[in-house]
Amino acid sequence: MSKNLSLTKNNTIKFALQKLHGEYGKILTVVDKNKSLIGVVSSGDLRRAILSGCNLNDRIEKIYNTKVSYVFHEELVKKKFNKSKFGSESLNNSIFYLPVLSNQKKVKDIIPVERVLEILEKKKIEKKTNLSNKLPKILIVGGAGYIGTVLSSKLLKKNYHVTVLDKLMYDKKIIQKNFKNKKNFKFINGDVCDLNTQIKSIKKIDMVVYLSEIVGDPACSAKPEDALKTNYLSVLSFANLCSHLAIDKFIYTSSCSVYGLDKNNKLLDESSSLNPISHYARIKIMSEKALMSSSNNYFKPTILRLGTVFGPSKRMRFDLVVNTMAKFAYFKKKINVNGGKQWRPNIHVDDVADGIISIIKAKKSNIANQIFNLSSEKLNYQIIEIAKIVKKVFPTAKLSINDSSLDLRNYRVSSKKIKQKTGFVAKKTIKNALTNIKKMFIQKKIKRPDSKIYNNLLSLK
Ligand SMILES: NC(=O)c1ccc[n+]([C@@H]2O[C@H](COP(=O)([O-])OP(=O)(O)OC[C@H]3O[C@@H](n4cnc5c(N)ncnc54)[C@H](O)[C@@H]3O)[C@@H](O)[C@H]2O)c1
Repeated sequence: MSKNLSLTKNNTIKFALQKLHGEYGKILTVVDKNKSLIGVVSSGDLRRAILSGCNLNDRIEKIYNTKVSYVFHEELVKKKFNKSKFGSESLNNSIFYLPVLSNQKKVKDIIPVERVLEILEKKKIEKKTNLSNKLPKILIVGGAGYIGTVLSSKLLKKNYHVTVLDKLMYDKKIIQKNFKNKKNFKFINGDVCDLNTQIKSIKKIDMVVYLSEIVGDPACSAKPEDALKTNYLSVLSFANLCSHLAIDKFIYTSSCSVYGLDKNNKLLDESSSLNPISHYARIKIMSEKALMSSSNNYFKPTILRLGTVFGPSKRMRFDLVVNTMAKFAYFKKKINVNGGKQWRPNIHVDDVADGIISIIKAKKSNIANQIFNLSSEKLNYQIIEIAKIVKKVFPTAKLSINDSSLDLRNYRVSSKKIKQKTGFVAKKTIKNALTNIKKMFIQKKIKRPDSKIYNNLLSLK
């Protein structure tokens, strides 16, 4: 292990990146000609070096850390260090590593910090170490939105460090109301289309979740140039920046609307042909392609094609099918359906966040350069079926069906691939979300349901 993870001062940054394989948290030891430890480098050190102008052929000599924590093998042995307990399994699952040295300061091994603490202090690591320092630091671009606020809350609860970059297009007070003074949380109020903001936000980040866009068919059609700029050009430049810095994971939320119109009602998987019928979906495809082509040995993005999202969020949206029907059913006692035969995959916003977290936690080789549908076979519904579920939760509302529909989208998707690769399965149902949205209405948590802050198109007009 130590042999594989050792460098000399003369090795290049490129060689170090190859050795780390972009894995978060591992370190490389730097040794002299006698194989004695003289320093370490981490993937963070390599990224900071590139950002400050080093190139891939520059030598490690320029950037390695000489102040190193380490532990002597002898100390571990005295404390009954049981090698079998530290097999490759525990090494691979751990995040932070410490060099183990012989008395002559030769590198014998590297082992997870928590194991060292366990041995030396004979205490369980959970009590001794600050968990958040061992987790990757996540940037959520567009983190003040419908999905972003749910994802941020979940990650903070799990002790991740979260930075949100957002220009607060909808509810200007959303961050102040929900995340002010939260531990491990940082907010950058800025536009991702601005290159200075991009560079500012990426410092000290290990992984990126990219959610910021002009979201939805109507909003993109109303602002086509903004959509091109935000949803394509800035995705492209941000991905290039992350590629340059060898960011460990880049997770991009695309949409199942890329499948557009499928007349055969087949269960579509990630290799099915695409048939976009909106500006929004066409740009999604351009961004997917651009992302895949920006991948290299150190940067391997992951794309999630989300079904239509439903359920309560701190930044509520009432321009999504389930949520909109709930709003009309409660406040206007009406459930209007246009057409209704169209098939659509759906997914609860909590499950979207959990799906993204499953990618954050996944073994990189399982998710690198991969596209995944994110919904569930059980959540493919015709719009009329959704309306009937809404009617059950809001029984006093009147269901009214209008045969004509302007929305031609029709697609059913399979989400088997993400289950196979990460074990993720969407758990929450539409009925479950409707019950909670109804509670929000009854408790008067939504005071002005028609306010434009809940509707992307109205906000942009
Ligand atoms: N909600 C859905 O049903 C759904 C379905 C499929 C895919 N998606 C995708 O998920 C992602 C997030 O969607 P959402 O529902 O949370 O949308 P949202 O509109 O609630 O959130 C988008 C956020 O991005 C921010 N933003 C937009 N342009 C920005 C810019 N130039 N700079 C900085 N911030 C900017 C907005 O202020 C907002 O907070 C999008 O990529 C969307 O295409 C959503």
